[in-house]
Amino acid sequence: MIDFHQEVAPIFKRRCLNCHGLHQQLGGLRLDEKSFALLGGLSGKKLIGTSAEDSELLRRVTSDDPTTVMPKEGGRLNEREIATLRRWVQAKAPWPDIVPPSGRDEFLARYGQDLWKRLSVIGGEPKIYFLLIFTILVGLADRVRRVPADNEQWSRGLRRRVRSLCQHVSLGGFLAVVLGTVLWDVVAFTMRQSSEFASTEQKLAEANAAGETRPFALNGAQPTPLRPRGATGLGGTYYRGNDERHEKLFNGGDYRTAIMRLSLIDENDQAVAIGRPLSGSQLFVRLEIERAVNATPSLFTDQIMGDMLLTRRAGDRKQPLATDEPAKLEVLQTGERWAAKYRLGDFEGQPDIAINGVIYVYTNARRTQEAVQGTMQYGVVVALRIRERTLQENSELWLGPILVPGNFQYPTPGRITLNEWLDTQPIPEITGDNSTDPTLLGIPEHLEKGAKLPAK
Ligand code: HEC
Repeated sequence: MIDFHQEVAPIFKRRCLNCHGLHQQLGGLRLDEKSFALLGGLSGKKLIGTSAEDSELLRRVTSDDPTTVMPKEGGRLNEREIATLRRWVQAKAPWPDIVPPSGRDEFLARYGQDLWKRLSVIGGEPKIYFLLIFTILVGLADRVRRVPADNEQWSRGLRRRVRSLCQHVSLGGFLAVVLGTVLWDVVAFTMRQSSEFASTEQKLAEANAAGETRPFALNGAQPTPLRPRGATGLGGTYYRGNDERHEKLFNGGDYRTAIMRLSLIDENDQAVAIGRPLSGSQLFVRLEIERAVNATPSLFTDQIMGDMLLTRRAGDRKQPLATDEPAKLEVLQTGERWAAKYRLGDFEGQPDIAINGVIYVYTNARRTQEAVQGTMQYGVVVALRIRERTLQENSELWLGPILVPGNFQYPTPGRITLNEWLDTQPIPEITGDNSTDPTLLGIPEHLEKGAKLPAK
């Protein structure tokens, strides 16, 4: 048994991610996320292979040739590290989807985020209000203590008693209470975290047992989408299912709401295909969304669709995204079809290009200088390797829902299953009457999330 996150990931992090991580992907290889890593790099050689002998990863870390051996800087891996990587490759490179929070920095970052979220909800955190009131009381007590002993007004009755009480208030005691509260909060947070991860792990195991086995990562540097079954290769057609389940809905609610078409194109709107030389110098990801037959029109207005945004920025994470040019959906046919073209860049004069990243698709999006607000609904995984201006076979472009611990619901009675959320297999169309009940159609839920429906 080998634990990827405990044993292998720390080696990557320490020795490889500087050059093969989020910010830099030398040789086209990105090792911090499974969706990119397992495709290997620009050479097209298999990173893992079918045996330890044909693994590019092992070949590179064990090579005696100083121009080949990895890491390229900082000295060879030690024997123990190499043995760990060998065991990992021999076990067929298991890479569990859920990454437990580890390391001081990540823990503190999560704790900070969590605390900030709790503080921004009024009345949400009794501990904090307790501390605040306590601090004010200690401050007042300190002032009372400093009232001179011969003060006439404070020498009788209630005031006298208050003052003698205040003599007992000490700064040390105050600090002890503050520290205790912080400690209590950290312990409670740690327990909440681990139970959240355990329950997500449990839900995932159930999803897997039900045959919904698809690899996906739930966290890491950036959220990574869930890979719909059958989503491989370069784009394609995806079917989006309806969320709600009810007997009054057509087919119990199991019906298609939208068709999404994903493709890689150049500046002449020509599709780019694996094995064929590029004809232009620019690359775009094109996402088209079509309202499915008889799907609720009020959820597909030009305004709602126009509030969708494609961007590489994940929420307010501050990343150097020099290449990010957010793209909105444009109307192709009012109320029916929309499309966005996200420009990956201009690669004039670059025969070899590697791109490994996620383009997030937000709904109800608003973008400021630092952050994108809205709901991160989908992600387009872009893993392209172009050599001598030709798209290599170990390239992928696919679309998946974004699920993070906490909002990952499976199986939830009365709700959609993962395969029906977004599928490469057709989901049934609405061929008869559907309910008109707004609640069953999920309209209030959309309004709550910020959708603006047209006035009647
Ligand atoms: C200082 C930068 C640097 C570090 C650190 C580094 N590499 Fe590399 N790596 C490169 C460069 C540059 C290339 C492309 C040139 C080449 O193929 O040798 C590369 C290529 C590779 C390739 C071949 C990709 C392909 O095209 O198939 C593999 C595999 C690889 N590295 C693995 C690793 C591993 C594993 C680590 C950590 C143990 C690591 N590298 C650390 C710079 C680095």
